[in-house]
Formats: sequence, C-alpha cells, structure tokens
Amino acid sequence: MFDLEAIREQFPALHQKVYNKPLVYFDNAATTHKPLAIIERISHYYRCENSNIHRGVHYLSQQATEAFEEARRFAASMINAVKAHEIIFTKGATEAINLAAHSFGRMRMKPGSSILVTAMEHHSNLVPWQQLCLEYNGKLLVTPMDELGQIDLQAYTQLLDQQPVIVAITHTSNALGTINPVKTMIRMAHDRNIPVLVDGAQAIAHTEIDVQDLDCDFFAFSAHKAYGPMGAGLLYGKEKWLEAMPPYQFGGEMVDSVSFDKTTFNVLPFKFEAGTPNVEAVLGMETALRFIRNTGYEAIATHEKELLDYATAQLSQIPGIRFFGQAPEKASVISFLIGDVHPFDLGTLLDKMGIAVRTGHHCAQTVMDFFNIPGTVRASFAVYNTTHEIDTFVAAVKKAALMLS
Ligand code: ALA
Repeated sequence: MFDLEAIREQFPALHQKVYNKPLVYFDNAATTHKPLAIIERISHYYRCENSNIHRGVHYLSQQATEAFEEARRFAASMINAVKAHEIIFTKGATEAINLAAHSFGRMRMKPGSSILVTAMEHHSNLVPWQQLCLEYNGKLLVTPMDELGQIDLQAYTQLLDQQPVIVAITHTSNALGTINPVKTMIRMAHDRNIPVLVDGAQAIAHTEIDVQDLDCDFFAFSAHKAYGPMGAGLLYGKEKWLEAMPPYQFGGEMVDSVSFDKTTFNVLPFKFEAGTPNVEAVLGMETALRFIRNTGYEAIATHEKELLDYATAQLSQIPGIRFFGQAPEKASVISFLIGDVHPFDLGTLLDKMGIAVRTGHHCAQTVMDFFNIPGTVRASFAVYNTTHEIDTFVAAVKKAALMLS
C-alpha cells in the first residue's frame, strides 16, 4: 500500500517554510531530501561505530568494516550484480565515470580511437570522454536526438560502425527527462563487441535496475539523487573488465605490497578504492537503497507518472509555454520556458513563493545549444511530492509569468 502521507512524514526537510511559505521542493533531479532513517544511520555511525575500515584489529573497526561490506553486498543485490566485488564505491556518479574513463578508457584508447556518447549527456558523462579523446587525438562521436529529445537509433547504428572503444549513454536525461532504450542500445553495441557504460544518476531513484538483464559493462550512480547522502555513489563493472583495468588512484588500502622498487595491487574491489572512503555516506546509501526497495519501484513509478501527467496537463494551459523533452518514455522531469521570460527570473520569483526549481543549463550545455536556448526552468518530482504541490506550483508559475511578461 502506497501511503503518501506516511512517506512525507519520514522527510523532515519537507515540513519547513521558506519565506514564510510552505516549501514546495521540485529540485529532486539535483538532489532529493533524505528520510529520517538515513539521517539517523549516519548519526549512529558517528555515535557508535566510527573508526577506519579494513585496517583495524579492534572491535569498532571490525564492526564498521562489516557494515561497509554489507552495504556493498546490498548495493550489488539491489542492481543484481553477480558479485559484490563488482561494486566500486566512489564519491558519486561523476567520480565513477571518471574512474571508468581514466582506467578502462586509457586501457583501450589508441591514437585516433573514438568514443560514442549521445546528444543528451550531462557534462559528467561527456567531458571525461571528450578529454580522453583529446589526449589520444581521438574522436568524440555523438548520437543525435530529435526535437522531442529522442535518440536517433538509425544514426546510432551508423556511428557504432565506426567501432568506438566504448559507448557512454545516459539512462535518463537530467535536462529533458528522456528515458533512453538502453537495453536495445547495449545489445546493438555488443553485436559489434563494443562495451557500454550507463550513467544511471537519474535512474536509480525511479526505476528498477538489473545490470545482468541490461547486460551493461558499467553502471554509475550517486546516492544523493536517490534519498541518500552526498559523497557516495558507485561504479558497477563486469568482473572481467575490472580485473583487467589498471588502478585509477594510488594510495593506502589499494595495494598488496609496497617497496621502493615496486608496488603490487590489492584484489577487487579494493584495487579501486584508494584512501579512507566516505564510510558514513556509504552506510547512508545502503539505508537509502533499502528505503527505495521497501517503498517499491512499482509504487514509486506509478506515483511519479501521475505527478508528471498531472503537472504537464496543468502547465500546458499556460499561454506561451514551451516544453523541452517530450519523449513518450519520460521520467518525472519537466523542462520549460514561457514566452521570452528568462528562466532565472522565473526561478527567482518561484523561489520567493516557496517553490524550489532548478534554472539554467542543468550541466547539459550541449542540450541547451541544440534547442538554441540559454537554459530552462526545470521541475523534477520525487516519491514524496503531491498533486496539491503541483497546484501551488502551477498557480505560482502563472502569477510569475504575468509579472514578468
Ligand atoms: N546533475 C544535477 C542536476 O541535474 C545536479 O541538477
């Protein structure tokens, strides 16, 4: 049973006023709020368990190590990885993609090699690959999209024929909401022996991920967009790739033996986890993933689809509104502009009415260039949002648009 009120009760940050107005938080694609269970999990770690992991013989270190490794096992089960050591903890999706680009990318790149991305990537799944191409005098290939924000699969097929060393695609666009046909795209790439990394930053809070079913080679996400803390995320990689890849960073814990002449490296997953990790954030991430599992992806998706449809219908009645990202398969993200009102001005007025949205290019400048706009206003919904909040938001957008036009 999906009980929206009970869910909202778990999120203390939702029950505050800003500028003396009840907060309406529609900036969930940037980061979600956190349920009490996560706040308490982190607090418990510091009150009772704090110590460094994988290093101590003492009780607290053993407790913390076991909790950390249990979080790894849980994350693996959540996305159906075959083995827990296919989960590499990072500080977020960005670091996960950088890890893949630096380690896997460098292992595969030769002068003149290419890498294939899409026209709707977040900077974090574009710039690392672009820089790698620059380093190797290679070519960044870009799968185009149409005006609705859908990938052109025919062009994708042709670009795959250029044999890029890797395909890096977003599961769900943060700027447009498009949910890409990643399973099909992975199969098409694999037909040509090309591995695929999926940026799942905007997916993990909204849809069930099964890395074996997708058959992706890498999958990255951050905890903080999925009700978890900032500073934790992960890179899933197929064991065969992770085994072959060189370390990404050097330091403590990722080594096996060290002398002045030579260093040998630790086994998976530790080979990729140099230095003391963000233990409390990883434990918080586990609690967040458990929150999602307990709530249920089906219930989350049904509720968020209702919010998306309701908000889209309400906003459509506003004269001069333009939506960016109208793919049939869409997450609960609405990017829009009204007439020639600047997104920043609209966002600022909405803020004064207690409504949090994101304005600007959303770290996807190439998407904005495609539409020839400086940015959009973006409302993004999470499991705890309500249709009543959408009513407040739509009324505020109408009011602000009138004031600014
Ligand atoms: N990537 C985040 C967003 O889309 C910050 O807002």
